[in-house]
Amino acid sequence: MKTNFKFLVLIALLFIGGKSFGQEISWTAPEYSNTLKNPFAGNKKATDEGKVIYNQMCVLCHGVNGQGNGEAGLTLEPRPANFLALHVQNETDGAIFWKITNGKAPMATYFEILTDDQRWKLVNYIRELEKK
Ligand code: HEC
Repeated sequence: MKTNFKFLVLIALLFIGGKSFGQEISWTAPEYSNTLKNPFAGNKKATDEGKVIYNQMCVLCHGVNGQGNGEAGLTLEPRPANFLALHVQNETDGAIFWKITNGKAPMATYFEILTDDQRWKLVNYIRELEKK
């Protein structure tokens, strides 16, 4: 398992390196994140709580409807993710959770800013936005 992880880090570094060659790089969560279980799957109350956090902390960049068009996000490079995009919809809850946990500049790392529960509730709300 340990060597596997090192290998993934190496791949990640190669990807980051690729950026300097002007390639479009997509952000991929590590394989293990797909096995993480959402403790609030289908929990409406958790989704509502996620909405409150979203509108406080994420809306500025990702926009009210999650389309990545929040006011503060318009000038960012890369632009904030559009949660309605197919590649996001196709991701597992675990991968989305991992991305919120780890962040990627210019998006912050929410590992210490939000609890696990709060981050899972945000996953729920992102799923809700995708349905609209
Ligand atoms: C400062 C602006 C900013 C804020 C605030 C922000 N994000 Fe982001 N977010 C981004 C950017 C930019 C990306 C795209 C990063 C990339 O693809 O390299 C992103 C990507 C994401 C992704 C990855 C989507 C995917 O599957 O590829 C998720 C999930 C996400 N943000 C969730 C959140 C949540 C939840 C919050 C609030 C806790 C939040 N973001 C707050 C800027 C922001």
